[in-house]
Amino acid sequence: MATIRALEFFSGIGGLHFGFNASGVRGEVLESFDMNQQANDTYKLSFGKSPVSRGIDRLTAKDIEKYNANCWLMSPPCQPYTRGGKLLDDQDNRAKPLLHLLDQLEKMKTPPTYVFLENVKNFETSRSRTRMVTLLHKMGYVSRECLLAPYHFGVPNDRLRYFLMARLRSSFRGTTSAMATETTETDQNFDSEKEIIYTSWPMPAFVEEPAKSTKQHSFQSHELRHFLDIDQSQAKHYLLSRQLILERPNFRFGASERTKVVMISSCFTKAYGSHHVAGGGGLLQTLKMEQEEYDFGDSESIAELGLRFFSPTEVARIHVFPLKEELESEIDHESLTSESTTSKLPVEETLTSVRPFSPRLVRNLKGPFLRFPDKLTALQKYRLLGNSLNVWVVAELLRGVLFADHPGSPLPVYRQY
Ligand SMILES: C[S@@+](CC[C@H](N)C(=O)[O-])C[C@H]1O[C@@H](n2cnc3c(N)ncnc32)[C@H](O)[C@@H]1O
Repeated sequence: MATIRALEFFSGIGGLHFGFNASGVRGEVLESFDMNQQANDTYKLSFGKSPVSRGIDRLTAKDIEKYNANCWLMSPPCQPYTRGGKLLDDQDNRAKPLLHLLDQLEKMKTPPTYVFLENVKNFETSRSRTRMVTLLHKMGYVSRECLLAPYHFGVPNDRLRYFLMARLRSSFRGTTSAMATETTETDQNFDSEKEIIYTSWPMPAFVEEPAKSTKQHSFQSHELRHFLDIDQSQAKHYLLSRQLILERPNFRFGASERTKVVMISSCFTKAYGSHHVAGGGGLLQTLKMEQEEYDFGDSESIAELGLRFFSPTEVARIHVFPLKEELESEIDHESLTSESTTSKLPVEETLTSVRPFSPRLVRNLKGPFLRFPDKLTALQKYRLLGNSLNVWVVAELLRGVLFADHPGSPLPVYRQY
């Protein structure tokens, strides 16, 4: 079976590339495309190669064909479909690069065997989605669609996203799989409205791999505290000002940290960390930990809770990006256990945690790691991370659904603990 030669469109800080690496599937990302300078600088620092910065809407089928790629990974802008936005869908200029790519796909002499797309919840009801799925089926693809969040995969984060995976029917030749029945359906009979959108995990792969047990699809639920910075000395920089809370009657927060209870952080948006928009991402409670009920109408009592934003590194960790900081956190371990330390987390437990890309695991990982240029501010990092995606979710979908019958490493990298 051919190794995967992927193109990564709308690459941002490389979430899809990291996900591809983590899936353990044999292959490589040949080229990436994005026009955001800060995202491209971050990508270059992480992967050692700059994405193509030319607008995707200016690429021709011929430009794309020269890569001889057999897989497209895409995470197009979500604003045309975001609830709370104008919902202009295919009439929004920001939908144009995706629609342009679909036009090029139709023109390709050798279209990619595999297509993977990520977007926000709501894309599933859009005209853009109907156009995409209808085109794929007309061109001879079969597809799987789902709405899943990191918490389905054991990561305490509520970021529901739409995923579409498609594969050319011809790639199933010789397989005796459940796909045989699906592939008998004629293109004329295809009704995009009737396609199933899976909302739980595991979902059916294109081809069942007998060697893979269901155990590989089950996850330990990781507690939010395992994703926090071990060195809490920087936490003060992320505290919400008392004034901000008092100015906002009925100020609500989405997540709190308990020592024993698993809490779920909510979806980090690209506006996260902005003091103008103190929402859309959850906050951590750092004081009065015994308090379990909140009177949101009483701003004074809320201001006493020591609420803080997650740090950019914590957001990256929750999005399961591989971070070199994990190695450094082992050094912190030494200092944190010294007598002089005042603020500390349950370090022992954190270090022995088996969450994805935990220090223990990262020690064996050669990279690439996510690295932000020094010049980026915390707000710029939040914005890039808010635009990005959960690496682990992508890795599992690639490994368990799109490439289920592909030779990969026996277990994805984050499972080798
Ligand atoms: C939802 S984000 C994708 C983020 C990415 N998956 C990641 O892990 O960071 C969409 C990206 O599309 C890029 N983009 C939007 N329009 C574009 C265009 N016409 N050409 C190239 N890139 C574009 C934006 O700069 C942004 O980084």
